[in-house]
Amino acid sequence: MLAARLKADVDEIVLAGPAGRSPSEARCAFEAAMGRAVSVKAARCDPAQYELVLIGSPVWCWSLAAPVRGWLKAHPLGSAQAAFFCTLGGSGAERVFAQMQDVCGKRARATLALTQAQVEAGPRAAIDAFIARLVGQHARAEAAAEASAPLPEPGPLAQAHSRDAHGTG
Ligand SMILES: Cc1cc2nc3c(=O)[nH]c(=O)nc-3n(C[C@H](O)[C@H](O)[C@H](O)COP(=O)(O)O)c2cc1C
Repeated sequence: MLAARLKADVDEIVLAGPAGRSPSEARCAFEAAMGRAVSVKAARCDPAQYELVLIGSPVWCWSLAAPVRGWLKAHPLGSAQAAFFCTLGGSGAERVFAQMQDVCGKRARATLALTQAQVEAGPRAAIDAFIARLVGQHARAEAAAEASAPLPEPGPLAQAHSRDAHGTG
């Protein structure tokens, strides 16, 4: 839904190794809780080439999923901005967002935590609000950059106008 709304490219985080490899829930919980980063396949799209990268993870054991940690470690974001989202049963989202921030070294432009109940009931409103925060942050950052930019030197056109205004051009 996010990709469709944002017209974004999507890259799935896939474990390295034989296709279809599916670790047990106990292993997922253990690796996440231990802060492990497991190997994943190389991204199709280099995240550093984008202006904004949204990274999503399930919450496992109040922790970032080990494959997402592995992906973040293997794929520096460069100058791209980051936004985080997660799915969860009910608790651990803030801890996961803090871990994502630590691993990728970026503060999120916005975050979205979706509980399983929200996903099942239809997460449209939560997704709309998240996108509004993302877009709002962007607009505010652009306005701030514009406000702090030095005033341009008068160019030839402006000089011609000022000469005109004084009747000398
Ligand atoms: C190993 C494991 C650990 C989990 N730990 C948590 C947890 O600590 N907190 C929580 O709210 N949900 C927890 N859940 C529930 C998942 O976060 C939730 O089912 C998942 O995000 C749903 O998204 P998915 O369909 O993409 O996996 C856990 C699920 C699994 C499989």
